[in-house]
Amino acid sequence: MDLPITPEFVEKYNQPGPRYTSYPTVPAWKQDFGHDEYMLALQELSQKPEDELAIYLHLPFCAKHCHYCGCNALVTRETNAVDQYLDLVEREIKMVTDVIGTGRLVSQLHWGGGTPNFLDEAQTERALNLFHTAFRMTDGAEISIEVDPRISSPEEAKFLKDIGFNRISLGVQDFEETVQIAIGRRQSHDRTIRVYDGCRAAGFEGVNVDLVYGLPGQTRDSFTATLEEVIGLEPDRVACFSYAHVPWVRPEQNKVDTTIMLAGYEKFQLFQLTVDLFGEAGYDWIGIDHFAKKDDELSVALKNRALHRNFMGYATKPAPHMLAFGMSGIGDVGDRFVQNDPDLAQWSATVDSGRFPIIKGHRLSDDDRLRRLAIINIMCNLELPWKLTVPEFGAPANELFAESLKALPPLLADGLVEMDEAGLRITSKGRYFVRNVAMIFDTYLGKDKDRPIFSKTI
Ligand SMILES: C[S@@+](CC[C@H](N)C(=O)[O-])C[C@H]1O[C@@H](n2cnc3c(N)ncnc32)[C@H](O)[C@@H]1O
Ligand code: SF4
Repeated sequence: MDLPITPEFVEKYNQPGPRYTSYPTVPAWKQDFGHDEYMLALQELSQKPEDELAIYLHLPFCAKHCHYCGCNALVTRETNAVDQYLDLVEREIKMVTDVIGTGRLVSQLHWGGGTPNFLDEAQTERALNLFHTAFRMTDGAEISIEVDPRISSPEEAKFLKDIGFNRISLGVQDFEETVQIAIGRRQSHDRTIRVYDGCRAAGFEGVNVDLVYGLPGQTRDSFTATLEEVIGLEPDRVACFSYAHVPWVRPEQNKVDTTIMLAGYEKFQLFQLTVDLFGEAGYDWIGIDHFAKKDDELSVALKNRALHRNFMGYATKPAPHMLAFGMSGIGDVGDRFVQNDPDLAQWSATVDSGRFPIIKGHRLSDDDRLRRLAIINIMCNLELPWKLTVPEFGAPANELFAESLKALPPLLADGLVEMDEAGLRITSKGRYFVRNVAMIFDTYLGKDKDRPIFSKTI
């Protein structure tokens, strides 16, 4: 029987920590990693022509900045800003294909932002064609886009489906007006529903809705109403993110009234409510913060232990490499992670000069690769089988991680994990604190205490 989760217990484990969309995480990467290292990574990739690719395109533009936003988003009044941006993305793609060649197979293409549907139809088609010209999509490739319903319509959903997108994610966050006012994001309920219905009518699979818990103005009752409304829509997937309040990284968040924000145990209870209501509605809880219908690919991947995690979150079709285009995009090529410059002017100037706009990166060591495997297993499959790493690293995980596992006894005593001769498993109580368990395998943590860039677990 699990011990109850008390306010003191939540307080104990509610520590700043990474969400592990990569390991090592971005703060551990080096600044002196740029054009030359990325060129080497691409040259190595050119020697592996059979390897499939995932691609991320960052489209930063938004109509208006929401106070709560933690993404790399830009509001622009310049009418031709998008066209200029796409000119540079085209240059960036050309620089990459000059090294790896055109026609490489792509199994996953994702557009994130900002607001990808800020682009008009001609710009959207142009941008998609850039990828079709330079790469070859596999049969069944996942082509996905993040959409802000406030500036979308059923017609746009149909257009996106017609030109080739097959996955769509709608930013809902919260249906309640008081919360929407507090986060500077008024979102008409009717339009959101119409866009959602438009996605269904257009034939999108894997329709996802984004929610955020812990926003200013949210209460247990108000969030219950939002959750019930979302469950009534029957999306295939829901991501319910913990509100990350990081005004030192996103100054716009200083407009958020933190005095009306639930924190600690009360915020935790909002997530517990989310887990309960989606569970009762027949959804599987995926990883840390996703929910999926039982027949959705994410649930199937979870059951087959085939779930993966990358910079785009949870993935069902992992490709061995990810190329990123656009400002702030993060790539993973061979044994190197790279990040594009998050500053539009600098990213533009570097691409314009014919150099890769990389501002930081990391080359994985053997130890990093091993720990990455362990952390992905914990974040996705909620376990670390000891035999997992044998073929790759020559010894069982409990021997390889003997040092890290010394941090385990308190987690065992607190009932977050259980351990036997087969491996380590997250308990039902530990489900809420998976990041805390993953953190014991992270050797970079705590080396950067001056910069509290991570948000808290809850
Ligand atoms: C790029 S936005 C989605 C697309 C579009 N711009 C929109 O707002 O609808 C990606 C998602 O990140 C989540 N998000 C943004 N800021 C966040 C924050 N501070 N904490 C947690 N999640 C956040 C939201 O759920 C949002 O839908
Ligand atoms: S939440 Fe979406 S629309 Fe709002 S600022 Fe962030 S990226 Fe832009």
